Amino acid sequence: MLEVLNHPLILHKLTIMRNKETGTKDFRENLDEIAELMAYEVFRNIPVRPVNIETPMGPTVGYELDKPVVIVPILRAGVGLLDGIRRLVPTARVGFVGLYRDEETLEPHEYFAKFPKDLDKSTVLVVDPMLATGGSAIDAIKLVKDRGARNIKLVCLVGAPEGVKAMQQAHPDVDIYLAALDDCLNDIGYIVPGLGDAGDRIFGTK
Ligand code: PRP
Ligand code: URA
Repeated sequence: MLEVLNHPLILHKLTIMRNKETGTKDFRENLDEIAELMAYEVFRNIPVRPVNIETPMGPTVGYELDKPVVIVPILRAGVGLLDGIRRLVPTARVGFVGLYRDEETLEPHEYFAKFPKDLDKSTVLVVDPMLATGGSAIDAIKLVKDRGARNIKLVCLVGAPEGVKAMQQAHPDVDIYLAALDDCLNDIGYIVPGLGDAGDRIFGTK
């Protein structure tokens, strides 16, 4: 399943992020706000279960999330989505996957992985602003699957058709949520029109 969240507020904030004149502070703040809006949309499809509770007026049936939530940002840029999602799901636990893309081959290389327990019983959101070739997200999802995760959603800001296709082939069971589906990759593996290098723009490293 691929869902592109064409929400006016998300589009507005994403346009600020795409603009090359936007500096680190505004880039990061808009990403944080989009993360919260995206989480709101993604959680529309999350199952709930009934619970018996007592209000001050008497008994009733309420609802709670059926599974605990684990957020897995792909380092570095995925960290930019973490706080916004956690504001809506403050009980979520957090795992990390460290991957960097070789600039020549575009192959992802793993340098860190740390996960909470019970991934098999959780809804796992793997998050990264960019889905370019798809290599990084495909590897990150393989890592969480190797630790038992079965209920996985991929949340990215901007995707390329090439990355979506590769992801759907590698992990057809994973739902993909994007704020925008862009045109293509360029010859150095960047998304066009995209927003440039997300990690560099979040952390001011270039
Ligand atoms: C970027 C981005 C994704 C990856 C996407 O990370 O944040 O993780 O590239 O590209 P792919 O779909 O072709 O794998 P990068 O490797 O630049 O690392 P960084 O987050 O540390 O900047
Ligand atoms: N990584 C980024 O940060 N931007 C792209 O366009 C592609 C990969």
